[in-house]
Amino acid sequence: MIKQVDNTYILETNNSSYVFRVLESGHPEHLYYGKKMRLLDSKGQLLSDNLCEKHAFIPGNNNAYDKEHMTYTLNDMRLEFSSNGKGDNRQPFVELIHGDGSRTSDFVFEKSEIVSEKRLLKDLPSSYGECQGLIVTFVDKSYNLELELSYYVFEECDVITRSARLINNSDDKVRVLRLMSMQLDGYDSDYILTTFNGAWAREMEICKHQLTRGTLINESFAGVSSSTANPFIMLGKKDTNEDMGPAYGFNLVYSGNHAEYAEVNEFGKIRLLSGINPRGFEYSLESGCSFEAPEAVMTYSYNGYNGMSQNMHQFVKKHILRGYWADKERPVLLNSWEAAYFNISESKLFKMARAGKEAGIELFVMDDGWFGERNDDTSSLGDWYPNKKKLPSGVKGISDKIHDLGMKFGIWLEPEMISSNSELYKKHPDWAMQIPGKPHSEGRNQMIIDMANREVQDYLIETLSNLLREGNVDYVKWDMNRTMTDVYSPSLPAERQGEAAYKYVTGLYRVLDHLMKAFPEILFEGCASGGNRFDLGTLCFFPQIWASDDTDALERVKIQTGYSYGYPLCTMGAHVSGVPNHQTLRITPLSTRFNVAAYGSLGYECNFSDLDSGTLDEIKEQILLYKTYRQLFQYGSFYRTDSIYDNGEAGWMVVSEDRTKAVAMTFQSLVRPNDQRGRLKLRGLDKDALYHLYNLPFKLDIRIFGDLVNAVSPVHIKNGSFAHNMLAKFVKMDGEKEDYKAYGDSLMEGGVMLSPKFSATGFNDKTRVYPDFSSRMYFLEKVD
Ligand code: GLA
Repeated sequence: MIKQVDNTYILETNNSSYVFRVLESGHPEHLYYGKKMRLLDSKGQLLSDNLCEKHAFIPGNNNAYDKEHMTYTLNDMRLEFSSNGKGDNRQPFVELIHGDGSRTSDFVFEKSEIVSEKRLLKDLPSSYGECQGLIVTFVDKSYNLELELSYYVFEECDVITRSARLINNSDDKVRVLRLMSMQLDGYDSDYILTTFNGAWAREMEICKHQLTRGTLINESFAGVSSSTANPFIMLGKKDTNEDMGPAYGFNLVYSGNHAEYAEVNEFGKIRLLSGINPRGFEYSLESGCSFEAPEAVMTYSYNGYNGMSQNMHQFVKKHILRGYWADKERPVLLNSWEAAYFNISESKLFKMARAGKEAGIELFVMDDGWFGERNDDTSSLGDWYPNKKKLPSGVKGISDKIHDLGMKFGIWLEPEMISSNSELYKKHPDWAMQIPGKPHSEGRNQMIIDMANREVQDYLIETLSNLLREGNVDYVKWDMNRTMTDVYSPSLPAERQGEAAYKYVTGLYRVLDHLMKAFPEILFEGCASGGNRFDLGTLCFFPQIWASDDTDALERVKIQTGYSYGYPLCTMGAHVSGVPNHQTLRITPLSTRFNVAAYGSLGYECNFSDLDSGTLDEIKEQILLYKTYRQLFQYGSFYRTDSIYDNGEAGWMVVSEDRTKAVAMTFQSLVRPNDQRGRLKLRGLDKDALYHLYNLPFKLDIRIFGDLVNAVSPVHIKNGSFAHNMLAKFVKMDGEKEDYKAYGDSLMEGGVMLSPKFSATGFNDKTRVYPDFSSRMYFLEKVD
């Protein structure tokens, strides 16, 4: 709900309030963002004086805004946006160079309008759906410019979005050095800022920063949103935990270079900014034209980081994901990459797919290596036609065979790239993003295609459309495997090169928009060397993203925990792969690899035709289980109950919307000797409902005990010997059993005291054999 009373604007969601007023000088002063509060009395009178700073005199050596407002110092004000040159020395929201060379801007209030429908952005994707909006217009009279701030309120998710548009009504050109999307100024600064800074194979590492004087920058300069600094960030107090305390979350609907600034100024006030990274950016705004900043997303919860995450999850599921697959259960897939890398052929793929079909796989994905002369990563990107040696009957041939097995067929593509060793490059060297005549720094032996060039966009739309149509393709893994260097678009004039990285992103969005409309039922999964472009812009097109090239279960617990703060489970592609793991050489149990990947959109990525029957049987059971609970794993409410970052143990839980079903998971990294403890924490249940909690019966492989087996064996058995293996085949021990009936409140307040962990002394059927990297799933059902 949005209300305007006098000069004050109140934006309300179910549980939060956001308030600002327009000062006499025309500047918008931020008053409050947080827990919902009452501001109007029974007669609708505004009671907000208590929230307003008094601005009675100028602090120290600061400047007065103007002669009429000799006590107004912009440097000490909480503003909804700020610019350079009129006394606010903090990071600005908008930074311009005018025709006369001046860098000072001064926008003041002109008008406002409350709207009942979302206005979409022109070149950028944005959220959609039922919401109420507020458009506030400010003008810089000296330069005849207009700045429009838009706010949209999504009440039921406790989300408010913001964006900005700059309109040039003057006759001069304006150089836009930055136009951010969101500014949030606060009175205090005793906050912990959490950013998610990772790397290839180590995405979304959680970094906590105690804010202090100065500016902390979370930014990407890679051309993509990047795994080094995800645009999703959080703010909380020292005492905020997963379940309690104030927690704010912020994100940006954009897939290119972004920056988030957290600044604490000399008066202890915090400023948070988020938007397109100003580094390397400059946009020439011609007379009569406008420039839009991407949409920023903000949420607040008083129920800790879990509460904040659930707001974000709801928002992403209802207002970002779109199209046919947005709320559909995603198929369980088998991907050929770790099974065969570039060494694929129709017969090999078919064999794998057939084994996959037996195990319950629904979608087979032919990864890299199928096109041009692609036998390694040194060539052929751009040559999107089948290699006839590997696929004698083309894409259609393998696609038909997979369809005949009763499975869906998917393909890997990396359309944003061009190899210098490709037919496409020979024909169109000017289609690569490179500085003509200058040496170029390549990544993975490839260059980036000039997405800013409309001719390239049209070519890709046509080529890919034909490929997808003729190949009868059901799924696309859309990859993007390098970051930008030598940023330059040969299709733009010299004075517009500051727009190259931005126009690359809008060009990409145009191509994707066309393809989504032409192939609404194809499931697109985003990928950028794993999670190098995991953001809300990408999710407007691709309902799921390959979260990381790292499929090691321990690393995945960390990575998926990181994503879970800002992104719902259905958006995370998660695969079970072989061991030793290809990224870490670590060996983890198959059950754990599954338990972790199940909390996402599940896939497998290993050679099914090489697996023994025991392993295949286990996988078959896993897939069956996943399908039974798929709705929960992909769309349930997700809770973090224990953090791997705190004590090496992770706890995850999904609960159905009606709270009648839930699945909890525990994971342990390394065993702590003589520590039997284990209390299962549960969240999100109906406190008054009675639940049955249990684990599924399972068998232990006696080889887990090594030569400890001799403690009970009547004959001596050598560890790893033939006899040991034979024994393991025929003697299976029962795993511990957990079975309880309890009320929701008892489960959430007291948890479940689990069977004691194995700890060397004593062993019986109550022992939870839980070596390194073990995990368990627990199921809950409401009983009448
Ligand atoms: C990237 C992806 C992988 C795989 C390879 C193929 O690294 O992240 O999953 O598709 O490309 O070259």
